Amino acid sequence: MSDQRVTWSEEASGTYQRIAAIAVPYRAEQIAALLMLLPFDVNESFHAVELGSGEGRLAGALLEAFPRATVTGLDGSEAMRETSRHRLAKHGNRFRVSSFNLLDDAWWPELDGAQAVLSSLVVHHLDGAGKQTLFREVRQRCATPATLLIADLVLPAHPRAQTLYANLYDRAARARSQELVGSDAYFQAFVDEEWNFFRYPDEDDWDKPSGLHEQLRWLTAVGYPIADCFWLQAGHAIYGGYTDAAAPNNGLTWERAMEIATAAAELTDAEATD
Ligand SMILES: C[S@@+](CC[C@H](N)C(=O)[O-])C[C@H]1O[C@@H](n2cnc3c(N)ncnc32)[C@H](O)[C@@H]1O
Repeated sequence: MSDQRVTWSEEASGTYQRIAAIAVPYRAEQIAALLMLLPFDVNESFHAVELGSGEGRLAGALLEAFPRATVTGLDGSEAMRETSRHRLAKHGNRFRVSSFNLLDDAWWPELDGAQAVLSSLVVHHLDGAGKQTLFREVRQRCATPATLLIADLVLPAHPRAQTLYANLYDRAARARSQELVGSDAYFQAFVDEEWNFFRYPDEDDWDKPSGLHEQLRWLTAVGYPIADCFWLQAGHAIYGGYTDAAAPNNGLTWERAMEIATAAAELTDAEATD
C-alpha cells in the first residue's frame, strides 16, 4: 500500500457513532440498495467480507436478508468491533469480526475466497494509489465470480457539483434530524463537527475521496468488467464492480430490503438518548 498516515481513532469512532444517524444520508436506503445489488439468491450460501464494518449495521442487514450467508467484518476500532459483536451475537458464528488496518497488507488473506466484498464509508481513507492497490488485491484474492460494492463519498468533478453536494448533504442531515428528534438539535451536532466534507474539505487530508469516473476505470482495469455507479445522493455514491453479468433475481423485493435496512439503521433507545 502507498504510505499514508493513520486516519482513525477511538475518538473518531465515538463521534461517528454519535452523529451517524444523520451524517450518513439516506442510510436505510443505502443499506437496502447494497442488499438489492448482491447477486445471490436469498437461499444461497456465500461468504462476504466487509471492510470497516463499524457497528455491524450493514453486515447485520446482509445476514438477515441472506440467512445462509456468512460475513467477516474487519475494523480497526475496538469499540466498533465490540458494538458489532454485541449487535450481531444472535447470528452466532455466521458473523465474526477481526481487527485490521486498512493502510497495511497484513489482513489481505481475510479476502481469500470471498464471493463478495462490501464497504461503507471507509475506502475514502485511502488515496488514489491505495484504492487501486486495494481493488487489485480484492479482485485477485476473491473467488470468481466476484462482486465488490462500495458506498462512499466521491470527489466532485466540478466546483458546481461540490456546492450542490454540500447543499444536498446539509439538507438531508437536517431533514433526518427533524424526523428523529423533531428539531435541528441533532443537525447542529453535524454542523458543529464540520462533518459535511463538501462544505469543509479536509485540510488535514484525513479524507481522500476519489472521483467516481476514475474509480470505475480502476475497477475495470483490475478485472471487474461490469463497473458502474448504482446510486448517488448528496455526494455519497454506491458503486462497484462485477466480474459476471449472470445474476438472477435474488428473490429480495425492494420493500423487504427496506424493511431489513430500516431496522438495521435504527437507533437503539440508548443511542437515541445519548
Ligand atoms: C465512517 S465509519 C463507517 C462505519 C460503517 N461502515 C458504517 O457505514 O456505518 C469508518 C469505519 O472504518 C474504520 N476505520 C477507519 N479507518 C480505518 C483504518 N485505517 N483501518 C481500519 N479501520 C478503519 C473505523 O473504525 C470505522 O468503524
